[in-house]
Amino acid sequence: MNNLRVNSERLWDSLMEMGRIGATAGGGVGRLALTDLDRQARDLFVRWCEQAGCVVRVDRMGNIFARRQGSDDTRPPVMTGSHLDTQPLGGKFDGIYGVLAGLEIVRTLNDAGVRTLAPIDVVNWTDEEGVRFGSGTLASAVFSGLCEPDDALTRTDLDGNTFGTELERIGYAGNVAANGHPVAAFIEAHIEQGPILEAKGKTIGVVLGAQGQRCFRVTVDGEEGHAGTLPMEKRRDALVGAARMIDALNRLAFEHKPHPVITVGALQVRPNSRNTIPGRAVFSIDSRHPDNAVLATLAERMSQACDEIAGNADLALKFEQISHRATVAFDDGCISAIRDTASRLGIAHMDIYSGAGHDACNLARYTPTGMIFVPCEKGISHNEKEKALPQDLAAGCDVLLHVMLERAGIS
Ligand code: GLV
Ligand code: MN
Ligand code: MN
Repeated sequence: MNNLRVNSERLWDSLMEMGRIGATAGGGVGRLALTDLDRQARDLFVRWCEQAGCVVRVDRMGNIFARRQGSDDTRPPVMTGSHLDTQPLGGKFDGIYGVLAGLEIVRTLNDAGVRTLAPIDVVNWTDEEGVRFGSGTLASAVFSGLCEPDDALTRTDLDGNTFGTELERIGYAGNVAANGHPVAAFIEAHIEQGPILEAKGKTIGVVLGAQGQRCFRVTVDGEEGHAGTLPMEKRRDALVGAARMIDALNRLAFEHKPHPVITVGALQVRPNSRNTIPGRAVFSIDSRHPDNAVLATLAERMSQACDEIAGNADLALKFEQISHRATVAFDDGCISAIRDTASRLGIAHMDIYSGAGHDACNLARYTPTGMIFVPCEKGISHNEKEKALPQDLAAGCDVLLHVMLERAGIS
């Protein structure tokens, strides 16, 4: 069994075929959650899973579970997977690799005629990226008992569509209860999305945990006015206020050592007209740090900084926290299983922390969880240029295969 390896070419070809759904002019993928493109990607995944003999179920949050039966189906499944949705200008690997690595394991076990004792579930979590509805990994949070289904289903996008109606529209509001089935362990494979493995010349990152994250929505209200007639000193320009706040937030990140990361990535201006002074600006803040206490202090400092700027410019301010995830430590047993398996297979590995958030961070509060990272070129991710090497992706999938086999047992 030690010699069993995944089919690198088949894994790569599946990634490339999936990458055609929502392909962007710049060579990446734009496939936002619960769009028609997401539906096409889901349909393809379901078709591939059914062709591989899996039984596919969909829960109320649209999470798709493809099960390869074991010889003892009273045992809870060993689960793997990630997400098929992407950033607006994303790559072919962030998330997709983890889902298709799970499928490749099923295909490899089928080819080798290996039966496991426990079932294997390959999952596609709904809306990991959180681009449209403001907050990511909500569907795995519901599965893990960390969020009520309605808190996610009632969220709206910028056009006023809710998560729930969009899920129904694309035909993936399933009938399986959303609040999780028993799972023996969850192992997620993912590209690193950072530069460390490449720089250190390692193929596998054994992920120990992930940094904490707090996200906010900031609404700045001023007053609309005529761009040609209202004198500068009489203006209450919401966008000018927001711009000052964004600069202050960026400086705040540099003032803390070691640096937190603070990102303002989305901004809406009302009415968004060349010759009307902006009356409202709404922007997002994503803040992350490995120390929960620093992250909490930072939240206060950010809110104070925005308050002060709003006060000085006679602007109204609403500063709302919309999500909070504390630092995550993965399961010691899963961590050692990944580390030992990489050693046994002779693959260079190192321990690493995740800067990015993942569905595994929610699952870690529900079941023993681990993550396997593989390098991506120059650490570039959330970018159309995201690249990973076929041999590294296959190596991560081999480690995943053997960890899953060990956990599921061979019949
Ligand atoms: C996931 O893409 C994240 O925001 O970390
Ligand atoms: Mn991801
Ligand atoms: Mn991502």
